[in-house]
Amino acid sequence: MIPVNEPLLDGNEKNYLMECIDTGWISSEGPFVKRFEDEFAARVGRKHGIAVTNGTAALDAAVEALAIGPGDEVIMPAFTIISCVGQIVRSGAIPVLVDSDPVTWNMDVSQIEGKITPRTKAILVVHTYGLPTDMDPVLDLARHYGLKVLEDAAEMHGQRYKGEPCGSLGDISTFSFYPNKHVTTGEGGMIVTDDDALAEACRSLRNLCFQPGKRFVHECLGWNLRMTNLQAAVGLAQLERLDEFVARKRRMGLRYGEWLAGLAGVQLPLAGTDYADNIYWIYGLVPDESLGITAEQAMGRLADRGIGSRPFFCPMHQQPVLRRRGLFEGESYPVAERLYRQGFYIPSGMALTDDAIDAVARAVVEVFA
Ligand SMILES: Cc1ncc(COP(=O)(O)O)c(C=O)c1O
Repeated sequence: MIPVNEPLLDGNEKNYLMECIDTGWISSEGPFVKRFEDEFAARVGRKHGIAVTNGTAALDAAVEALAIGPGDEVIMPAFTIISCVGQIVRSGAIPVLVDSDPVTWNMDVSQIEGKITPRTKAILVVHTYGLPTDMDPVLDLARHYGLKVLEDAAEMHGQRYKGEPCGSLGDISTFSFYPNKHVTTGEGGMIVTDDDALAEACRSLRNLCFQPGKRFVHECLGWNLRMTNLQAAVGLAQLERLDEFVARKRRMGLRYGEWLAGLAGVQLPLAGTDYADNIYWIYGLVPDESLGITAEQAMGRLADRGIGSRPFFCPMHQQPVLRRRGLFEGESYPVAERLYRQGFYIPSGMALTDDAIDAVARAVVEVFA
C-alpha cells in the first residue's frame, strides 16, 4: 500500500530529541520551545510565535483572543475543516459561510462583501490545499469595514502570497504541525502575530490563564495548550529543512501534473496563479460528474490497486453537528458541495519517492481510463 502521507524525519530530529532526554527537559519549559517559536515567527516575518498543542487549539485560542463572542458574525469558507468553526460556535458567535472558487478551491473572495453586516467582527481566511486565498481583496474589505482577519495557514508552511509569507497576512495567523504538514511536530500548532496584546492573550489562554503573583486565582478561563520540548525539538529540525521540503513537494506536484494533465474530465490543482505558485500541501483530483464516478468510488478503485487516498473536506453547512444547532438552514454552497462529492487526494507525503509517484499516477490513469 502506498500511504497517503509519510513524513521525513531524517535531519536533526533524533539529535535534538536526544538532547531533550539527556538534559531531562521534556516539558513545555524546555529551551526548544522558545527557539522554535522565535525561529518560526522569524520565518513568517512575525514578532510573536506562540507554540500550542495542535492547529485546532491555535484557532480556538486565536478566536478567543480576538474576543469573538455571542452574536458576533465571522465570515469564513464553507469548504474547510471543522477545526475552523469549533470555538466560533462554542463562543456563541455565528459562522457566515462563503462558497468556494471552483478553480483554486479557496473562498470566493468576490462573495465576501455581500455577507458583511453590522454584526460582522472578523473574516476567517483558510488557505486550502496548496494555493493561498487571494488576500488583497480580503484585506481591503477588512480595512474598509473595520474587521479583524484571522488567517488559517495550517497547510501553508513556506507559501507566499505576492511574495509575502502566508502567516504574515492576518491580524493573527495559525499553523498546524500534524505529520501531513510541510513541518511536523507529531501533533502541534503555532499562533503568530505582530500584535503584542493578542500575543499576550494567546500566551495566557495557552497556559490556563495563570496570573503572575496570584497563580491559582483566575480572571479568565483558558486551556492547557502547551507544546512540549520534545515536540518543539522535532519542529526545529523540520523547520531547518523547510525550503528543501517546499521544493520537494513542488516537484511532486509537477510530476503528478505531467502524468495526469491529459486525463479528460479530471480537474487537477493549478500549478500557480498570478499571486502564488502551488506548494501542493496535497495533490487533489476532482473528476467531473459527467464521468459518472464519485470521489468515494474512485478512492475504492485506488485502494484495490494499493493506493491510499483521502476525501476532500465536508462543507460546514452539511455537518450534522452544526445543522442540529440550527445553523445554515436552507443554505446551499454548490461549489463546496461538488468539491466534497467529487474531490479526493492521492498520496502527497514528504517521503514519497519518484517511483511511488509514478506508480500512483499509473493507477489513477487506469481508474479514469
Ligand atoms: C486548514 C486547516 N486548519 C486547521 C487544521 C487543524 O490542525 P490540527 O490537525 O493540527 O488540529 C487543519 C488540519 O489539517 C487544516 O487543514
